[in-house]
Amino acid sequence: MLEARDLTVVYGGTTVVDRVSLALPEGPYGLGLIGASGSGKTTVARCLLGLVAPTHGTVLFRGADVGGMRRPGPYRRAVQIVVQDTEGALDPRMRVGTAIAEVLRAHRMVPRGAERGRVAELLADVGLDAEHAARHPHRLSGGQRQRAAIARVLALRPRFLVLDEPTSALDTTTQARILGLLDRLRTEHRLSLLLISHDLAVVERLCRHLVVLHRGRVVEEGPLADVLRAPRHPVTRGLRDAVPRLPL
Ligand SMILES: Nc1ncnc2c1ncn2[C@@H]1O[C@H](COP(=O)(O)OP(=O)(O)OP(=O)(O)O)[C@@H](O)[C@H]1O
Ligand SMILES: [Mg+2]
Repeated sequence: MLEARDLTVVYGGTTVVDRVSLALPEGPYGLGLIGASGSGKTTVARCLLGLVAPTHGTVLFRGADVGGMRRPGPYRRAVQIVVQDTEGALDPRMRVGTAIAEVLRAHRMVPRGAERGRVAELLADVGLDAEHAARHPHRLSGGQRQRAAIARVLALRPRFLVLDEPTSALDTTTQARILGLLDRLRTEHRLSLLLISHDLAVVERLCRHLVVLHRGRVVEEGPLADVLRAPRHPVTRGLRDAVPRLPL
């Protein structure tokens, strides 16, 4: 499992993450992390990915502190992130197939010469055609680009996936398709997902568990259905009431 224990992150004297603990068991699993803009969601995610060193607290990967790992390779591959499409996960100068093949090569994920076949498999897995491999990112639609970004991440056979607003740059129909894709991948690849969103309807689609962050603190957590039935914190109520079509 992947675990954040008592994380605190201080930037220039301001505490942006305040004693946050959360755990992702092995997949298939889905944990939603919601909260207003600036509540610390991305910062928590960056700690889990080892991109930000917490001021206090620890991140544990299968029981080992990621801060002082002698062989961080398995952790680095196992924990991956998918961001909003507009943040440019794909290098605009590189063909999609080349970008994925490069990841396969760099991490020695397949024997030499087997990259092309694996690229085609990965593209098929996310619902893209083999011919998309030859395209540059700007010649794909937003939804296709997001699929390509997911394929690139899957190349590493991750166990834990942080999804930071993965669909907020997409129209509703495309958003629903990408969420459907992630739902299938979670089951088929036994992925453990941490889904960051300010949209409860998105979280509901993929997660049974929920953590609510407010000003860097966990103000509510538990099974999603329970939390929504009886929210204890006004922030949770606000986020719930922003989704009028939730059957409550
Ligand atoms: N590298 C940094 N240096 C200084 N302050 C930062 C840094 N990264 C984030 N912050 C601040 O920390 C707070 C939390 O930011 P964070 O990006 O984690 O919020 P968030 O919940 O992901 O917000 P959003 O929903 O807008 O993405 C914000 O006030 C932000 O300005
Ligand atoms: Mg964020």
